[in-house]
Amino acid sequence: GQSILSAQQFSPQDLAEILETSRRLEGLLGSKKNLKLLDDYILATLFFEPSTRTRLSFEAAMHRLGGRVISTVGVQFSSLAKGETLFDTLKMVESYSDICAIRHSVEGASSLAARSIKIPVINAGDGAGEHPTQGLLDLYTIHRHGYLERAKTSVAFVGDIKFGRTIHSLIQLLSHYGVHMVFIAPNELQLPQKYADLLDKAGVSYEKTEDIEALRSVNVGYITRIQEERFTDHREYERFKDAYIVDRELIGRCREDIIVMHPLPRLSEVATDLDSHRSAVYFEQANNGLYVRMALILGLLQVELP
Ligand code: CP
Repeated sequence: GQSILSAQQFSPQDLAEILETSRRLEGLLGSKKNLKLLDDYILATLFFEPSTRTRLSFEAAMHRLGGRVISTVGVQFSSLAKGETLFDTLKMVESYSDICAIRHSVEGASSLAARSIKIPVINAGDGAGEHPTQGLLDLYTIHRHGYLERAKTSVAFVGDIKFGRTIHSLIQLLSHYGVHMVFIAPNELQLPQKYADLLDKAGVSYEKTEDIEALRSVNVGYITRIQEERFTDHREYERFKDAYIVDRELIGRCREDIIVMHPLPRLSEVATDLDSHRSAVYFEQANNGLYVRMALILGLLQVELP
């Protein structure tokens, strides 16, 4: 079956359909807790790296659709800990479930999975590669705030642009909407060439800077954590971990209509004094993951909303 491996695979038409279905599901969930659309289906969640939002929202999405979930969390609790290969693990998952979501520290792990088994595979984060379903819920959030359709929207990405897989996915999705992008990061954590090439090919206008003051001119600020788990030299991480702090004072000097996003989890880079500020949409963003993941599961299993 069809899988979700990279943000690159979505056409503008696909994206329009996902946004529309997510919106409909958001409406339906207002009055119903179980849509009873996936009676006989099983989702397997295979998370070999830590997660709160992605795994729980995928599982909640499956339950809200009336389906069932089986799960293995952490390498130590699967037979991978006994030396079983990922391939053999996946062959089991293929026979026990109809669709699976996988998070793994190795870039390309979900693509390998999709080549190995016949059921649809969802990339729920592959190392410093991509996190396409996060990119889609980010896109939905930007859309719900009216910025996707507006001319001259500008989006700033702040923090760890090198290792931030959510950024790698979201910029590819946003490349279809004519938004201007600003990449704010220490030079060492700037946009990898691979993604710069994709943006160039798509004709996206963008700029790179180390200066957090560049946040002041944009409509959307997408802040990210410095990804400690991806650094081979821990001293490097220590050097960058507090590179940027976005707080009420800084946002007070930004555009009146700015929205502040963050894929979460956050450390110090978004101050908690911003949580009650009008601009803060990061918890709403995480909440949107439920509707978007419901839409994606339905699409992959080719089950239509009535
Ligand atoms: N945004 C995100 O992927 O969060 P989790 O790591 O908690 O799933």
